[in-house]
Amino acid sequence: MDLSVTIGNSVLPNPVGVASGTFGFGEEYGQLIDLSRLGAVYAKAVTLEPRPGNDTPRMVETPSGMLNSIGLANPGWEGFKEKKAPFLKDMACPAVLNIGGKKEEDYLELVEKCEDLDCHWGYEINISCPNVKAGGLAFGTDPIQVEKLTKKLRPLTKKPLIMKLTPNVTDIGEIAKAAEAGGADGVSAINTLKGMVIDTRAKKPVIPAGVAGLSGAAVRPVGVASVYRIAQSVKIPVIGLGGIFTADHAIQYLLAGASAIQVGTALFVDPQIPLQVLEGIREYMEQNGFNSLSDFHGYL
Ligand SMILES: Cc1cc2nc3c(=O)[nH]c(=O)nc-3n(C[C@H](O)[C@H](O)[C@H](O)COP(=O)(O)O)c2cc1C
Repeated sequence: MDLSVTIGNSVLPNPVGVASGTFGFGEEYGQLIDLSRLGAVYAKAVTLEPRPGNDTPRMVETPSGMLNSIGLANPGWEGFKEKKAPFLKDMACPAVLNIGGKKEEDYLELVEKCEDLDCHWGYEINISCPNVKAGGLAFGTDPIQVEKLTKKLRPLTKKPLIMKLTPNVTDIGEIAKAAEAGGADGVSAINTLKGMVIDTRAKKPVIPAGVAGLSGAAVRPVGVASVYRIAQSVKIPVIGLGGIFTADHAIQYLLAGASAIQVGTALFVDPQIPLQVLEGIREYMEQNGFNSLSDFHGYL
């Protein structure tokens, strides 16, 4: 049985990764889970400047999910290079760097800098960030911006370039097409949905930032539908995520057209979930006579 996943010119050993922002840079979780059995660690977003993150509370539980507004807290490029990159370089599974920015130039500069480090397998470009030059609208909501940014990033690296899409758009298929036209090797979806919880006694949002990102089981049907739409729109591989807690959830994404998946919020419940998901995918493939991950496609 072949569980490998090819994205661009590179291969992941298996389809189960852990989602950006829910696994840090891997050092802490590495003490709780056998990293060598993961398909990839999608690292926490890195930005040029260090970011302390937003005011607390940054998280609140919601029905079957949670809201977060971490604010891309990270040590910035210099801190990443000194404190995080050495761990990623020696990590027992591929590392995918998640890149954030406030303007196009930030993304380009960061990718150029990361190329010199070579501590990673590829890039996941977080285009859910607000574009300060476009009045704070997220890069990923405008297909023209997405194609332009992808085109500019493409010549900077030969490593896999994955654009991570926001579901907060009218047609995520159009955004995926723009990423493909710009030269992306793959897309991942979904990032968090917009949500808000209000403390009626205080008459204020529970999370000081107000609107925050919804993740967890509640978003899974949105994620599966998004991946289904994307897979109908583009030929490049799709990495599916959003609310995956069990192998059955991951298999829904694979049947919808994903070539790989990521486990995010579920890690806060049990860090072993990615390995259980991988085992369950293997069993399902055995039971259904599947030899490779492409055997999941074409049923819907
Ligand atoms: C606490 C937290 C932090 C996150 N930070 C990032 C991030 O830095 N970059 C990013 O692209 N996505 C980030 N995400 C989004 C997740 O990677 C994922 O797209 C989303 O949570 C949906 O998957 P899930 O329901 O399995 O968590 C974050 C999510 C959570 C819950």
